[in-house]
Amino acid sequence: MTVTSTYEQTIERTLFSKEEIASAVDRLARQIAEDHVGQPLLLLGVLKGALYVATDLARALAQVPNGPSDILVDYLCVSSYGNSTRSSGEVRMLKDTTERLTGRHVVLVEDIVDNGLTLSYLQALLKERNPASLRSCVLFDKPYHRLVDVPLEYVGLQCPDEFVVGYGLDYQELYRNLPYLAKLRQSVFTQEG
Ligand code: PRP
Repeated sequence: MTVTSTYEQTIERTLFSKEEIASAVDRLARQIAEDHVGQPLLLLGVLKGALYVATDLARALAQVPNGPSDILVDYLCVSSYGNSTRSSGEVRMLKDTTERLTGRHVVLVEDIVDNGLTLSYLQALLKERNPASLRSCVLFDKPYHRLVDVPLEYVGLQCPDEFVVGYGLDYQELYRNLPYLAKLRQSVFTQEG
């Protein structure tokens, strides 16, 4: 695997390989397909983190026989962490959906759920738009520090209680494009100004 030299020196270990992630995404796609047979589906990815999982999920869904009648992908963009490793608890909507949600079957797609505030905020906000159904899908579930109880219909992988990067997840906007999930070396954080 080729990564940039900066990345290589700062990664402690791989937590989930590219193959393990692909297999989890395939499983999520089958579950989502099963719940939306013959229905038009709107996959709604939460940027920036869910960019990769939402696109991979959309392509995996296209390969499931007898799934949704059609699949549309849209994105919204929120930020709750900024450039910090800890959640501020404040969710800011940076870009709303372009599609109308009223009467649609919507699956909200997140890369990670940690304290749950981001997803909980979005679920409440989107429910007010009267979708026909609203379910939530998360690739990496980190259930150790929940501040709110957030319903998750589809869960990919249980993430260790570590600060993780890759496959959409960043540290100061870096590492999102790693094809696997990784733990960074502690030295990365101790060098933080
Ligand atoms: C991350 C992630 C989720 C949220 C989860 O987003 O993509 O949206 O944090 O955390 P929570 O469950 O503790 O609320 P972030 O705000 O870092 O923005 P990003 O997706 O642009 O990286």
